[in-house]
Amino acid sequence: MSEPAEIGEHYDKRSPIGDELRDGQLHMWYWYDRDDDASLTEAVHRMTRKVTDTLGLRAGEHVLDAGCGPGETAIHLANRFGVRVTGITVSRFEIDRARKRARAAGVGDVVSYEYGDFMGLSYPDGTFDAVLALESLQNAPDIDQVFAELYRVLRPGGRITFSDFSLAGQGDPKRVATFMDTLKLPRLPTLPQWLDLARAAGFEVEEHTECGPRVFGRKAKYLEAAMRVQNDVTAKFGTEAVAEFARLHHGFFVPRKDQIGYVIVAARKPGR
Ligand SMILES: C[S@@+](CC[C@H](N)C(=O)[O-])C[C@H]1O[C@@H](n2cnc3c(N)ncnc32)[C@H](O)[C@@H]1O
Repeated sequence: MSEPAEIGEHYDKRSPIGDELRDGQLHMWYWYDRDDDASLTEAVHRMTRKVTDTLGLRAGEHVLDAGCGPGETAIHLANRFGVRVTGITVSRFEIDRARKRARAAGVGDVVSYEYGDFMGLSYPDGTFDAVLALESLQNAPDIDQVFAELYRVLRPGGRITFSDFSLAGQGDPKRVATFMDTLKLPRLPTLPQWLDLARAAGFEVEEHTECGPRVFGRKAKYLEAAMRVQNDVTAKFGTEAVAEFARLHHGFFVPRKDQIGYVIVAARKPGR
């Protein structure tokens, strides 16, 4: 099986329940502390806002959502900033779900979703004003190549924001290896390595944040939140599907909470 097809299948299996739990955003949460009583949905929306606010979008701009998941993030961009969004993913489930979601949200005319592999994009040079890669570069078989492609399709002066896991604390490397295997991560850069990768592609880094303690560090809050909705999710998807979902994610929880970081990086293609 080709790499994009394998990654697509990986998400096809996980996205239906993930979509239900996280309101169409297949990414991490952001909780300030253990006593933060934000719901899972709000904690995930917080991350959407936190990451996308760094793009500095203006009405009418065209954004590539590279690795768009089940679609809610692109809808947020269109509604909050008045931009046009093209979302790409290698998951057929996600495209279908995202299209339905955009139609229901009334933004089907400005948001579109396509099957596309960010390792080799079909768009001409300089097509987009901005690129978002919200937790999607993690699956790239070659991060240099994907950055080169994203750089190519951005116009001079265009912005990119990516957010992703990073290798943070030291500790039992076997725990990190289990995490990487579960999430299909070919590599797990540290924050300085992520910055080097972006700069090597030609981007000028303008802002970076490492907020792992409020993200992976709050994995216990995610488990609590998921347990609270377990009965509703089971009623919708069935006991077997929920058990399989839990089995597929077991390795995610294995690292110590300080071993996995989370980076948000905003950068620009030089020019104009
Ligand atoms: C963890 S999910 C994040 C989804 C979305 N950004 C969000 O925040 O809801 C990773 C996404 O990256 C996409 N992806 C992974 N490899 C890809 C590739 N080679 N080309 C395009 N999308 C890819 C997956 O299909 C999935 O939609």
